Amino acid sequence: MNQYLSINIKTLVFAATILTATEMQAQTTSTPQQMVDALHGTFGKHDNARAVHAKGIILQGIFTPGPEAKKITKAIHFQNKSTPVTVRFSDFTGIPSISDTNPLSNPRGLAIKFNIENGQTTDIVAHSYNGFPVATTDEFRQLLQAISSSGPDAAHPTALEQFFVTHPIAKTFLTSQKPATTSFATLSYYGVNSFKFINQKGKSTFIRYQFIPVEGEHFLTKEELSKSSDDYLSEEIKKHIATKPVQFKLYAQIAEQGDDISNPSIAWSDSRKRVLLGTITIKTLGDNSVEGDKKLSFIPNHITEGIEIADPMLEDRSKAYPISVKERQ
Ligand code: HEM
Repeated sequence: MNQYLSINIKTLVFAATILTATEMQAQTTSTPQQMVDALHGTFGKHDNARAVHAKGIILQGIFTPGPEAKKITKAIHFQNKSTPVTVRFSDFTGIPSISDTNPLSNPRGLAIKFNIENGQTTDIVAHSYNGFPVATTDEFRQLLQAISSSGPDAAHPTALEQFFVTHPIAKTFLTSQKPATTSFATLSYYGVNSFKFINQKGKSTFIRYQFIPVEGEHFLTKEELSKSSDDYLSEEIKKHIATKPVQFKLYAQIAEQGDDISNPSIAWSDSRKRVLLGTITIKTLGDNSVEGDKKLSFIPNHITEGIEIADPMLEDRSKAYPISVKERQ
């Protein structure tokens, strides 16, 4: 068999694997409003706040692409010399006053907007755990509902305990978060859902984003954590950028045959090839006024030519986020 034919058979088999996974994915029955309401049911509804990842801080920086990026996607921000970015780091939960020391403030979030040119923008929304508690949007709603009905007075087995029996990955997610980070700048963040990159020649590559901190990952000891303030992460990042820039390497992790494209609860193996897409350098604070925060939103399917969504959850997420954006105006 010649090499060309062999490569094309591999591509076909790979495409078939992906199609099967996508076809097997049941249609989402939860509406975007039900998803936002389920988040409120778990975290409460708070004025001017995001339904989840409510506490955060906005910064500004610059993205410089690496030379390999343009080989796998024709997206314009990977061709341009550099692109200004707006970054928002956040704590988990929809509680805007949550302490940065509270274990529930994990996973932390990183959302980034590439301000390309002529008002054109594109976003990535990631968090600090390589995976998601559940495979589908409907299961995410079931999980949120199970959490809301499993308060301290609930009879055992609680709804959440029962959910864990059938969804062991959700239990692992909720019970094995990383320790508290020393800084938003010393944590890795993962895009979790898959995208399809398309290059100038029309070749497709399935990827997941990873943001790896240039300073490495660092965590607080229990003693350090006990001495940390409720807002230690925003206090730290302000001091951090005053002395040195915060930097992340942005990678595309490349899917191999058999990797599940449409199930964000299963991380792809660390042995997968990663392509360096570029470097994010953050040097200044953004507009953190109430008005500035209201104006800023990140939508997971806000993409540019050369990038397509490959995981149905991205579409569901992207219908729910604008509802929360509207509610917090
Ligand atoms: C079906 C699944 C999901 C739903 C329904 C959902 C819903 C939401 C909503 C409603 C918001 C608030 C948007 C706003 O007011 O601006 C939000 C924000 C956020 N979500 Fe999700 N989400 C989902 C999955 C995920 C996943 C898989 C990740 C991690 C990769 C993630 C990370 C974040 C982050 C970091 C923010 C804060 C963005 C910011 O800083 O403005 N979400 N999500």
